[in-house]
Amino acid sequence: MTLPKVIGTNDSITLITGKKTRVVLLNNAATTPPFEKTLKELSNFLQTYGALHRGAGPHANITFLKVQDALSSIRKFLNLPDSHALLFTQNTSAAINLFARMLRLKKSDVVITSSIEHTSNNLAWHYNTEAQIVEVHAFEDGSIDFDDLEKKATKHGKNLKLITMTGASNQTGYIPDIQKLSKIAHKHKALLFIDAAQLAPHRKMDMKQDGVDALAFSAHKVYAPFGIGVLALPKSLLDNIPADPGGGSIDMISEKDILWAPPKERHQTGTWNVTGIISLAASCKVLMDASWKEIEKHELELVKYMAERLPKVPNIAMYVPAEKYLSENRIGTFPFNIAGIHHAQLASILEHEYGIETRAGTICNHRLVRRWHKISDTEQKKIEKKIANGDRLASYGIVRASFAIHNTKKDIDLLLSALTDIAKNGPKLKYKAVTHEEIFIPMKK
Ligand SMILES: Cc1ncc(COP(=O)(O)O)c(C=O)c1O
Repeated sequence: MTLPKVIGTNDSITLITGKKTRVVLLNNAATTPPFEKTLKELSNFLQTYGALHRGAGPHANITFLKVQDALSSIRKFLNLPDSHALLFTQNTSAAINLFARMLRLKKSDVVITSSIEHTSNNLAWHYNTEAQIVEVHAFEDGSIDFDDLEKKATKHGKNLKLITMTGASNQTGYIPDIQKLSKIAHKHKALLFIDAAQLAPHRKMDMKQDGVDALAFSAHKVYAPFGIGVLALPKSLLDNIPADPGGGSIDMISEKDILWAPPKERHQTGTWNVTGIISLAASCKVLMDASWKEIEKHELELVKYMAERLPKVPNIAMYVPAEKYLSENRIGTFPFNIAGIHHAQLASILEHEYGIETRAGTICNHRLVRRWHKISDTEQKKIEKKIANGDRLASYGIVRASFAIHNTKKDIDLLLSALTDIAKNGPKLKYKAVTHEEIFIPMKK
């Protein structure tokens, strides 16, 4: 079976060295290119694009019907129970922030999260609720310590209101056992929230079967990069006053009283991101029409291929042992470095000399990267001081290559051969450090 096609994979560019090459897209954990079909569906939709919920007319009606259809596709994509609703935000970060505020937790409440979370699923809890945030220990390979989770969940008992975890790590590709997380949360009558930003593009999601109470994900990571995020949550949470009130959330307002719109309407404030919803639903449909079995098989093959070969690159530093990728169900997300080359420079060499897109830095997972680099508190303080003074290159970091549906073994070969060449011969160009931007830029010879 052929996998769905994305656009942009045959894009050819001329490198600064004068060489023509195809762009190799290995930064999919940040943003995936859109599906061809998604772009077509969006283009068709725009022919009759009208005001949703804010107008009467043929185009407004067509738009309403198409959005209804799109909503049911997204619900199907998640296998969302009837007891649950969908809200749309700008991205996953905004969805988690919104969810955290909607819960209206008290000081005595406890939220359990982990130390491997993307900052979006960490800061949201520290800055939007009064609840006590408890962190579960994780191992250096990025996996969660379930014994510690059980212990902490039991310790906080009835005060535990929520367990919030990543569905797949943006740094190590680790996928926790979601059904196990659900059992632990529900044993204590707490909710389970999954940050599905990295899970959604790579594994079939089933909120009903997995016992997930709420989750968030983004269109730009599921082959529909058109600026929208999703929050799926229990309808009962819609009975509250909206966390972000405004246009559309009220039926009537006077000096003294507010008549809120019905619960299912009051939380989606302002004009909806209709093109985002249509594009996202189109990508969800493409993924559902393809075989998840085939998608997973293809991606696991890439993971195996990379894990078997990356350790052979000279001077490579891998932070997750290759065996973990070979023996566990991980998505294709590989953090690495080459000894003696700054991570930001390595990403820059890959970009400018080979046309390979990756990402460098701590990538919203600072504490795990710090652990990998064994940075003491004293060193950390010195680094923080330098960063505060504008030297962002003072930070430790990694380069991340992340795979998606469109990648091939050929892409991995190109990356491995580039890394080997760099490790053996160094950069072909001279680079200038741009400290305030955490990048290196090449200087023409
Ligand atoms: C696991 C995880 N959670 C949250 C986010 C934030 O997503 P967004 O950029 O859509 O806010 C990301 C982005 O990379 C992520 O990888």
